[in-house]
Amino acid sequence: MAKFDFSKRDSFGSKIGIIAAAAGSAIGLGNIWRFPYVTGENGGAAFLLIYLGFIIMIGIPVMLSEFTIGRRAQRNPFGAFRLLKKGQPWYLIGLMGIAAAFFILAFYSTIAGWTLEYLYLSITDGFSGKSPEQLNSMFKKFQSDGWWPVIWQVIFMFFTAWIIYRGVRNGIEKYAKILMPVLLLIIFIICIRSVTLPGAIDGLRFLFKPDFSKINPSVILEALGQAFFSLSIGMGTLITYGSYINKRDNLSTTAISVSAADTFIAILAGVAIFPAVFAYGINPAEGEALVFITLPNIFMEMPGGYFWALLFFLLLVIAALTSTISVLEVVVAFFSEELNINRKQATIIASIAITILGVFCTLSQGPLNQPFIGENTLFEILEYTSANLFLPIGGFFIVIFVGWFMGRKNVDDEISNSGKFKLPLFNFFLVIVRIIAPIAIAMVFLYQLGILG
Ligand code: PFF
Repeated sequence: MAKFDFSKRDSFGSKIGIIAAAAGSAIGLGNIWRFPYVTGENGGAAFLLIYLGFIIMIGIPVMLSEFTIGRRAQRNPFGAFRLLKKGQPWYLIGLMGIAAAFFILAFYSTIAGWTLEYLYLSITDGFSGKSPEQLNSMFKKFQSDGWWPVIWQVIFMFFTAWIIYRGVRNGIEKYAKILMPVLLLIIFIICIRSVTLPGAIDGLRFLFKPDFSKINPSVILEALGQAFFSLSIGMGTLITYGSYINKRDNLSTTAISVSAADTFIAILAGVAIFPAVFAYGINPAEGEALVFITLPNIFMEMPGGYFWALLFFLLLVIAALTSTISVLEVVVAFFSEELNINRKQATIIASIAITILGVFCTLSQGPLNQPFIGENTLFEILEYTSANLFLPIGGFFIVIFVGWFMGRKNVDDEISNSGKFKLPLFNFFLVIVRIIAPIAIAMVFLYQLGILG
């Protein structure tokens, strides 16, 4: 079979396209579905503060490291590590990322499927006249129904695969440039509505006024896991996107813009959701059902609820789609570059394989709802292990690689575009990736395991 021709590799066409695509990957269900409920469960503002600390001290450096590895090597994560450090087993980190992509997309597409059902319900006015109990049982019934959520999941995977099938520039970049501005506009409108609700101030206080007594080791690990998950770092997604960045573009400003956009949207999602939650007297620690049960409830009590529900679930669908494509791209790039399968076939094979695992994940919320490991279902295991284990472990090795193994000159050369842009804090960046970030990640783990503290 003919080898993959690296000289014909697809790439992003413009800086704005890269930022839209990478921010599209980062901004997703992690911001709008996961961030509010994890923040709600972990005490609000104190969690937010630790989260912000992790974004700045660890998230941005890991993101820049991923871009650096990707663009240097112009390869998928497995190929990148193999090329940059020949003869050493670093490619295992790339492989772990590809496995993580399978796991993440399997459970992520379950929830992405729910967002489609809820968009459909909003369009058909399916919430109207329902009591809170009815909305609650409607969600539980749908979630555990078996085939309905599977059908939506398959449809969502089909959309994802369609964009990836079209390629990097004509697929990922094109759709990200259309969808991201729409997403921004919708979230702004919803925020304005939420903060002008009577009683909104309690929600803002919950989000912004820290209560440090809530902090314990597992809250810190959750904040780290959420930072990794939300920024799409630690599994090679941004190595893959980095490999499509043009040699002219500035990697550090891209990493900072993308991280800032992601954090801004997570906070906006909190600002959109908590005031409404408090204004209607709902418990913020509602868990994963927060946006699917609580919000329809709130919308139904609001004037113009039909419109707000529609807007909100459209937002979720868009956010999910620009993220699922980035995860699928990791697997497709690997299949096509390393296994010599042409891109279109690789897309079909990868999508089908992931969808099969995803279907089990969806069914684990319903007919197959039984403990998979310990007391947890397959869905819970995949969600928890990918965010809180795979991504931070991947991130740990990525910074170690850039800090200690890639060669200072190579790193400097790539980040500065051969001396064109100087990163003013380059030495500081090196200290972070060599020492601070690895120690911080390791400490969070050791605390969690009860070995420290
Ligand atoms: N960052 C995405 C979100 O916040 O929804 C989720 C995600 C995408 C995680 C891509 C990891 C990844 F590689």
